[in-house]
Amino acid sequence: METKVITMEDREPVDLTRLKEAGEILRRGGLVAFPTETVYGLGGNALDKEASQRIYAAKGRPSDNPLIVHIAEWEELSPLVQEVPELAKRLASLYWPGPMTLIFKKRGCIPYATSGGLDTVAIRMPSDPIARALIRSAGVPVAAPSANTSGRPSPTSAQHVLEDLRGAIDLVIDGGEVAVGLESTIVDLTGDVPTLLRPGAVTAEMLRRAIGTLALDPALTRPLAEGVHPKAPGMKYRHYAPRAEMTLVEGEREQVIQTINRLAADAIAAGKKVGVIATDENRGAYRFGDIKWIGDRANEAKIAHNLFSVLRAFDADGVDLIYSESIPEHDLGYAIMNRMNKAAGHRHIKAEKTE
Ligand code: TXA
Ligand code: MG
Repeated sequence: METKVITMEDREPVDLTRLKEAGEILRRGGLVAFPTETVYGLGGNALDKEASQRIYAAKGRPSDNPLIVHIAEWEELSPLVQEVPELAKRLASLYWPGPMTLIFKKRGCIPYATSGGLDTVAIRMPSDPIARALIRSAGVPVAAPSANTSGRPSPTSAQHVLEDLRGAIDLVIDGGEVAVGLESTIVDLTGDVPTLLRPGAVTAEMLRRAIGTLALDPALTRPLAEGVHPKAPGMKYRHYAPRAEMTLVEGEREQVIQTINRLAADAIAAGKKVGVIATDENRGAYRFGDIKWIGDRANEAKIAHNLFSVLRAFDADGVDLIYSESIPEHDLGYAIMNRMNKAAGHRHIKAEKTE
């Protein structure tokens, strides 16, 4: 299959005539990758079982890992779900359209192929004007996981999508680089207590301010034990994985720098190709390996924006090992560290003083 690319950097206004073909492809069961404010999505008609199956096939994704259904208007929600709890209304009024996904009990119109066999469904109203115009043009809710091959870092540019999916999907809408760079926050509202399943740019602090209590899915606070299933099935797979073995180094600044320099030097001496993920404040402090700057600590939005493309760049460079600084786990830092931990397979070490 030849993958067509249309370039659409303009958002105000979005050129609707250029989205007509994309909308038609979705309506007839085809696959279109498109920009959202979080990451690029791989869209298909959420009400069409075969379209969902095509999404899994294109990504090489296990079919028990449910898809997020994207809508453009509030009115599109209630036909898809059994009920809209008060808390959902409150969260949606604050953070939709935006980088937040809510889990509801699904109605029969959502095929099990879309919900990964679950009786619940994940719904999000994205804020990117191209995404919203595309959903409107399709005239159906759009199921869209991140538009990467399963197991690779999520795509934050059309280039990333093409690296993974060229030849496997009908069309890519190139809308430039995404704004956020991390996937949406996921909140489950189907249980007794609202539960955070995946942290994102709508932070746990923002959610708590809006709704009071918020439980954290156990999968977020520690690596999963064998046989334990997280509520978001996708969180059990080793996602966002660079090909290299990655280690997070934690501790006080000077010690982190010394430790990474020492580990990198040792690994290089042993014949390994080494990458280092460093924050801009520490420019000049690292002496060994392929050093990539991820943004400054004072601007976590920048770090979030750069993380996946830095991981992809290390894949392209073919490094064997990556040593990375850590950042404080609050606000957006919590979502960033969640992705870093997954990329590292939860491998982290405490920095030690050397003399
Ligand atoms: O920002 C995003 O959410 C992007 C853009 C394209 O919107 N999409 C995205 O989709 O990240 P995906 O498929 O890569 O991640 C969806 C996550 C998975 O971890 C999946 O298990 C979880 O959402 N999920 C989907 N439906 C669920 C459900 N009914 N219950 C619990 N978790 C669900
Ligand atoms: Mg994904």
